[in-house]
Amino acid sequence: MREKTFKQNHLLGIEHLSVADIETILETAEAFIEVSTREVKKVPALKGKTVVNLFFENSTRTRSSFEIAAKRLSADLINFNSSVSSLKKGETLKDTVLTLEAMNPHIIVIRHSASGSPHYLTTFARSSIINAGDGFHEHPTQALLDALTIQQRLKTLRKLKIAIVGDILHSRVARSNIILHQKMGNEISLVGPPSLVPLEFEKMGASVYYDIRRGVKGADVIMMLRVQEERGAKNYFPSIREYRNLFAINRDIFSLAKKSAILMHPGPINRDVEIETFMADSRQSVILEQVTNGIAVRMAVLYLLKGEIHETLN
Ligand code: NCD
Repeated sequence: MREKTFKQNHLLGIEHLSVADIETILETAEAFIEVSTREVKKVPALKGKTVVNLFFENSTRTRSSFEIAAKRLSADLINFNSSVSSLKKGETLKDTVLTLEAMNPHIIVIRHSASGSPHYLTTFARSSIINAGDGFHEHPTQALLDALTIQQRLKTLRKLKIAIVGDILHSRVARSNIILHQKMGNEISLVGPPSLVPLEFEKMGASVYYDIRRGVKGADVIMMLRVQEERGAKNYFPSIREYRNLFAINRDIFSLAKKSAILMHPGPINRDVEIETFMADSRQSVILEQVTNGIAVRMAVLYLLKGEIHETLN
């Protein structure tokens, strides 16, 4: 593989990446897609390196995707389970991470409900830190795998109209995608009830719509989001039935987008809440391709960070 320049020690958010960094990650991911089609799905790139999966929130796809990615690169992987950890005995996040670091891992992948926790780790940890979702803040590998999927299907990442629909307020997926598509110069429309799509988002360079028909009109990409119940989102509208009537994607609304439009969702999907079952399983839906591409993107990120131990910030 052609050696690319990637000067980051950590992947904390799309915010910290240049357009060239994003392109490097996507090109590297494209090269790794082939590995997953081989009979023996393994390359020795991270042999001898240790990756720790440190997940403090529930996750199916992201945790297993990082696990498969690390294993396909021949790294050793430890899955840290926060529900049976010493955090339950009162240990702080810092002491937990310092304890794990005393075992000399190279890369720590963290998901945490507190926004900014991956950034906090970089102030004392020697490993490379990857943000796998921090509270409402960012979920960079999700936006990158979404970008790879868009590029595969639409053959470009530029001059696109991206409509993001749903619980924008609580969504780190939305934030990372808004930042990425802003950097790519794409047009972004955000759709949802006013309580979940505050006008502040216009400051990020997006247009806000409370009418889904207007928001998705002429879109190349429609990205649906789950109502984040665990972050209290259900208190922001009267009932799920009303939410579905106004903001779910169905055939009729999807037909307002471009003919070539694709339908995305980071998962987990709530069928017949934000997405009609027919649409979720339709030809235009790329939901499972997103999951497949997640492995290649995470392989690329792990590979580019290389797991080199570096100086801490203090
Ligand atoms: C998202 C997340 O956790 O932020 N899921 C994911 O990573 N695939 C979105 C969600 O939970 O709704």
